[in-house]
Amino acid sequence: MKKNIQTMVDYWLKLFICLIISMSTNISAHDYNNISITILDSAVAEAKGAVCLDGSPPAYYHAKGFGDGANNWFLYLEGGGWCISDEDCAVRLTDRSGSSKYKPKSVYFGQNKSQNQTENPDFYNWNRVYVGYCDCSSYMGDVELKTNVTRRGARVFNAIMDDLLAKGMSNAENAILSGGSAGGLGAMLHCDGFSELLPNAKRVKCISDSGFFIHAKHLPGADKRAEYYANVSAYHGIRVDSLPSSCTSRMDETLCLLPENIIRDIKTPLFIVETAFDQYQLALNYFSNESTWWNCTNNIEVCTPSQLQTIKDYGVALRQTLQEISDTTSVGIFVHPCFRHGHFYEKSGWEGSFILGDKTIAQAVGDWFFDRASFQVIDYDNELPRFRNCSKFIASSYI
Ligand SMILES: *[C@@H]1O[C@H](CO)[C@@H](O)[C@H](O)[C@H]1NC(C)=O
Ligand SMILES: *[C@@H]1O[C@H](CO)[C@@H](O)[C@H](O)[C@H]1NC(C)=O
Ligand SMILES: *[C@@H]1O[C@H](CO)[C@@H](O)[C@H](O)[C@H]1NC(C)=O
Ligand SMILES: *[C@@H]1O[C@H](CO)[C@@H](O)[C@H](O)[C@H]1NC(C)=O
Ligand SMILES: *[C@@H]1O[C@H](CO)[C@@H](O)[C@H](O)[C@H]1NC(C)=O
Ligand SMILES: *[C@@H]1O[C@H](CO)[C@@H](O)[C@H](O)[C@H]1NC(C)=O
Ligand SMILES: *[C@@H]1O[C@H](CO)[C@@H](O)[C@H](O)[C@H]1NC(C)=O
Ligand SMILES: *[C@@H]1O[C@H](CO)[C@@H](O)[C@H](O)[C@H]1NC(C)=O
Repeated sequence: MKKNIQTMVDYWLKLFICLIISMSTNISAHDYNNISITILDSAVAEAKGAVCLDGSPPAYYHAKGFGDGANNWFLYLEGGGWCISDEDCAVRLTDRSGSSKYKPKSVYFGQNKSQNQTENPDFYNWNRVYVGYCDCSSYMGDVELKTNVTRRGARVFNAIMDDLLAKGMSNAENAILSGGSAGGLGAMLHCDGFSELLPNAKRVKCISDSGFFIHAKHLPGADKRAEYYANVSAYHGIRVDSLPSSCTSRMDETLCLLPENIIRDIKTPLFIVETAFDQYQLALNYFSNESTWWNCTNNIEVCTPSQLQTIKDYGVALRQTLQEISDTTSVGIFVHPCFRHGHFYEKSGWEGSFILGDKTIAQAVGDWFFDRASFQVIDYDNELPRFRNCSKFIASSYI
């Protein structure tokens, strides 16, 4: 009798375990874009001193590569703007842009690119790492002093890279450092340093997604834009030697945070994904002081004629700035005319909605990365943002 009970218990226990295993296999097979967080507690110790604005440890999300993608790595640096003073940063201490305490436990993987070979042939089986933004300095800050707002973005970057190298990235064959918005700027600024971490890789390249913040020297607000990045630099203690010396020797070092000034100093091949009408830059980078400007950048249908002119002027300046760097053949350029900010964070941005020269962003990037074809396409057909086939806004009068 006792034996029978034991057998029954064993039986049910085994069945239960099988059930759990098959359930979890199902979940992971079904849901492998849902990646859980890695919190880097070990980075906090004094030797590294890598912490978020609020002193919490850095964090990232890693989905393992598989098959012949096991040694390929696609990193994405999350963005989220900057903050430039204790008061300005205070709100960041209680949200995910300044603290890992508020990061989601799992993410629907950043760029949400599919692991379906048909849909995402070049990258479907790569390791993917979504690096959590929590320093508000484009991963560049390095202030020794610990205050209520700790500014250590560069250390956060280094600590996460060390951890990934130890987890297999040191054997990378192919690697991409990408990032969106402030993270896209970070990807450019860290591009050569990243490449140096992987001396044995076949290919290392970088991608900036909506990180090309322009100075637009001849447009209103130019001084404010320069002043703003100077403030970012000063507040976060961005070290001069973390910027390309070929730039800092030519001009005020704080101007070396502006992509147009450093693009020729970056030796590693770089791909720029932009819209000619970046909604964030237009709204927040001092292009207009008009009180209804915000309304206009939220809904182009309510813009006044002079506001539309400001948008046109911005579009001309952005395209001109990128045109000027297109002689560098290793640079990939994808500039579409939709009103938008950021692409890789959603599947439709990466694989769908935006098509230039018959290619989606994923296809253009794939061809460029594997040296099948260069890609430099700037849309010049639209002097105002186009809306049809642009996923965010639908308006009838501008297409
Ligand atoms: C992702 O997985 C976690 C558990 O790892 C779960 O709690 C969460 O609900 C999942 N998210 C989604 C959107 O399915
Ligand atoms: C992969 O994508 C193709 C094209 O969208 C689709 O037909 C196929 O069912 C997908 N495969 C899986 C396993 O989801
Ligand atoms: C730092 O935080 C403490 C505790 O919240 C507060 O009392 C103090 O005023 C803050 N210091 C500064 C400089 O904001
Ligand atoms: C830069 O910082 C100074 C000093 O804190 C401040 O007065 C100024 O408004 C800031 N400028 C911009 C554009 O952020
Ligand atoms: C907005 O106002 C500031 C300060 O008066 C000025 O420096 C700046 O050029 C103005 N920007 C625009 C776009 O007019
Ligand atoms: C602009 O938007 C604000 C709300 O953000 C609203 O209160 C205001 O009425 C709008 N102005 C115009 C001219 O549409
Ligand atoms: C990401 O993919 C999941 C599952 O396919 C989907 O539910 C979610 O809406 C997607 N998120 C974005 C931002 O595209
Ligand atoms: C919009 O996209 C559809 C399907 O991808 C395409 O057939 C159509 O030509 C596009 N329209 C424009 C105006 O580009």
